[in-house]
Amino acid sequence: MRELIEKLVKTSDLTDSELKLLIDNISDEDLDYLNKLARKKANEIYGKQIFVRGLIEFTNYCKNNCYYCGIRAANKNAERYRLSKEQIYECCEQGYKLGFRTFVLQGGEDVFYSDDLLCEIVKTIREKYPDCAITLSIGERDEESYKRLFEAGANRYLLRHETADKHHYQKLHPENMSFDNRIKCLETLKKIGYQTGCGFMVGSPYQTTDCLVKDLRFIKNFQPAMVGIGPYLSHKDTPFCDFENGSVRKTLILLSIIRLMNPSVLLPATTALGTAKSDGREKGILAGANVVMPNLSPVSVRKKYSLYDNKICTGEESAQCRVCLSNRMKSIGYEIVTSRGDNINFIKGDNKNV
Ligand code: 5AD
Ligand code: FES
Repeated sequence: MRELIEKLVKTSDLTDSELKLLIDNISDEDLDYLNKLARKKANEIYGKQIFVRGLIEFTNYCKNNCYYCGIRAANKNAERYRLSKEQIYECCEQGYKLGFRTFVLQGGEDVFYSDDLLCEIVKTIREKYPDCAITLSIGERDEESYKRLFEAGANRYLLRHETADKHHYQKLHPENMSFDNRIKCLETLKKIGYQTGCGFMVGSPYQTTDCLVKDLRFIKNFQPAMVGIGPYLSHKDTPFCDFENGSVRKTLILLSIIRLMNPSVLLPATTALGTAKSDGREKGILAGANVVMPNLSPVSVRKKYSLYDNKICTGEESAQCRVCLSNRMKSIGYEIVTSRGDNINFIKGDNKNV
């Protein structure tokens, strides 16, 4: 196992069967070693600095019905909300004062937010905060829409691929959603020039180790600027309510492998990881993650953006999360930085592969 880990460190790759072996058979002791080497790799590139992204969850309306997600259209128990333009600007203002230089506008696939409306919002934020990065995370749209939003001033786009196995994709989503379109969207985003993020859930229903190996292969080939992964966590009002949560341990294995296969990738220690275990985000950083994404949404709506049960940070103000995260990072020897935190390849101007 040690030789495999060392080969991964040296070559930034393993064969599919070696990856499978590593994921399925790593001992606790070797996992400590893997996490340590992944952390060392992150430190070599980004130092002991953790980037923050202020997450604004601006709508929980969604036209889709992903079987795992608490804000799926068919969930009658979800209390729906939309933030007005003014509320979104207010979140940015608060975030800016707290030192955030990246705003992530995330929402369900909500047709209320037309291209015109979203472009207006993006332009306003762009003009007000020229020194900030604007990230969108609003699902599948057509090329024209992605282009207009990019021209309006958005720089980055997060669209998790969810699984790189087409058959598994269809087990997680209803028939009207297509794996091919998901991948096409990711290709389009990258082509337009967005710093693009993909990602998947660890331990989602019907996921096999082969699926995970395909995820790792997909990421290696796609060369995203960012990769978001977290454990699958069940939500009581979804068809998958009786499935077990994904494991923190497996998430830590995958975070480290992703860091070592894609050394300069931006890798968040996600809210789902912090929900699954109280020190999950700290453990994520110690496994090679280098980003945290505190919530900037108004406290009044936070509980409603419920993708899974028991989500953390739903009662805290933005300022509280900011302090909490600073302390958590300090406790493990890291510090939060307030720069935009671009992918290193973009900073160098070498953006051919991101
Ligand atoms: N558990 C964990 N992550 C989830 N997501 C959606 N539902 C869940 C869940 N039940 C993730 C998906 C989505 C991202 C915004 O949140 O991967 O892309
Ligand atoms: Fe929100 Fe700790 S990060 S309370």
